[in-house]
Amino acid sequence: MDAKAKERLDFILGRRSVRVYRPGEVNEETVEALLEAAMAAPSAVAKDPWRFVVVRNRVTLGRLADALPNGGMIRDAELGIIVCGDLEAAHDRQLSYLLQDCSAAIENLLLAVHIVGLGACWLGVHPREERVRKLKEILELPASVLPVAAIAIGWPGEQKEPRTRFNPALVIERSGKGGARRRGPGFLLKAGAGVRLPHFTRGRICLNSSVPPLEQFEEGHFRGNNHGAGGLHAPTASR
Ligand SMILES: Cc1cc2nc3c(=O)[nH]c(=O)nc-3n(C[C@H](O)[C@H](O)[C@H](O)COP(=O)(O)O)c2cc1C
Repeated sequence: MDAKAKERLDFILGRRSVRVYRPGEVNEETVEALLEAAMAAPSAVAKDPWRFVVVRNRVTLGRLADALPNGGMIRDAELGIIVCGDLEAAHDRQLSYLLQDCSAAIENLLLAVHIVGLGACWLGVHPREERVRKLKEILELPASVLPVAAIAIGWPGEQKEPRTRFNPALVIERSGKGGARRRGPGFLLKAGAGVRLPHFTRGRICLNSSVPPLEQFEEGHFRGNNHGAGGLHAPTASR
């Protein structure tokens, strides 16, 4: 990988949740650029079911803060962008597609915020029913439009260091060619067939290359089998 590519990838690690804002205008041109980036996200069958509500009104920001138990900081944000999805517009009218599409748009939005030097925090709305109900009411959303998340945006009032959460224990690689079971970093694999453990060399950004002992991976983590033979359930990460 060349240095430029490495630099660009490292930039992603600098995107952090910013929860303290200092006053300062965010102009319309910038907001439109952020929305354009959000809408450049992939969406199932390009249905683009996302809908965005831009809130600058301080009274409304205050009402949103009151409605979001972990989102009080939106009160002091320069603006909020509430990312919603229209179930009528989603592929097959499926909630799962709506949520996946909106989440892709949200991540694009957060990265765009980081690019322009602003700070933002994703504030969870869905699936908390009370938050969904209150936001629908505050924003007067039509019945088919579901608020997924509120994004508080403003000029950063706190500095957050880039960091990696890279963890090789959360990754397995299947070659599909048989292969011996190997122990080492990564999931404990019961039936070793077709499994090749990945080899990672991540240089300086791999701050924590230590892997929890295998005993920490309880039996339950390997149930579920959502990922083909063997299953692949990661231990729950703390927020
Ligand atoms: C679905 C979702 C809901 C979240 N809800 C909140 C929230 O209500 N309040 C908050 O302060 N942060 C919230 N966050 C931000 C996470 O706490 C944050 O992304 C995580 O701790 C990782 O930190 P980082 O964003 O700085 O990398 C949410 C993130 C996601 C993806």
